[in-house]
Amino acid sequence: MRRAKISIVGAGNVGATTAHWCAAAELGDIVLLDIPQTENMPRGKALDLMQASPIVGFDADIQGTTSYEDTAQSDVVVITAGIPRKPGMSRDDLLSTNAKIVGAVAAEVKRTSPEAILIVVSNPLDAMVQRAWQVSGFPTQRVLGQAGVLDTARYRTFLAMELGVSVEDVSALLMGGHGDTMVPMPTCTAVGGIPIGRLLDPKRLDEIVERTRNGGAEIVSLLKTGSAYYAPAAAVAQMVEAIVRDKKRLIPCAAYCDREYGVGGFFVGVPVILGAGGVERVVEIELTADERSGFDKSVAAVKELVAAMAKLT
Ligand code: LAC
Repeated sequence: MRRAKISIVGAGNVGATTAHWCAAAELGDIVLLDIPQTENMPRGKALDLMQASPIVGFDADIQGTTSYEDTAQSDVVVITAGIPRKPGMSRDDLLSTNAKIVGAVAAEVKRTSPEAILIVVSNPLDAMVQRAWQVSGFPTQRVLGQAGVLDTARYRTFLAMELGVSVEDVSALLMGGHGDTMVPMPTCTAVGGIPIGRLLDPKRLDEIVERTRNGGAEIVSLLKTGSAYYAPAAAVAQMVEAIVRDKKRLIPCAAYCDREYGVGGFFVGVPVILGAGGVERVVEIELTADERSGFDKSVAAVKELVAAMAKLT
């Protein structure tokens, strides 16, 4: 069987760590690309990672490059390129710089890998997915963003820590944009099948929801020199796996919603079925009044960012 070809644009912390998780899970051959000014850095990281293969025990060809030609005919392209946040910055402060970078990358991907599924990780996430879609002209099923898997993982981690249980038994859902208005969904949160409301009092749950919303900023304030990368990269690898192994995972991703949830043509975090075709279906569920108003507020914030982005160019 032919191995999948996975290209990762941006060989910084998120990109290189995505390569690491994807290689360790034997998801396919990997091309790690960065801008020509980085000279040999992506080659160095790729070679280093290749040399871990006899120890960890994975078969994969891992190539570092500064040329898009090496990414040609990829099955999946992950865009991590862009600048990360510094302490005190919101994801939205990155808009103008990263819109230019993501637009330029999407144009190159369209030229070299016209059949690829595009996973965007750069921030502000939802607007960057919109930009990648506009520039690539790819069908909406083949353009999506990584946010919900990460945010849900943070929420699940905090719940497991609180209850002293395995994270494996915590399942949850989170919707909306990847920003301060994201909407964790206690009605879709359970531990070992037990609805969370039967295990945790509402006040404590609210605190955990709030910590989840600020999960990215908490890491930025601790690191001081950049943003999170282990968990964001692991989240991307899970999405890549769902695609290359056609797993039909039901996970939250930033996906194109038009009539779905009444969004009207924007990318926002919603539960989707992710498989070989990319976003094979947006799963629509009935929202409670509170969830609906939280989701609408979050979608409004995404629309505002996309409008601001349109004025930049
Ligand atoms: C975070 C960044 C990657 O949430 O958006 O950590």
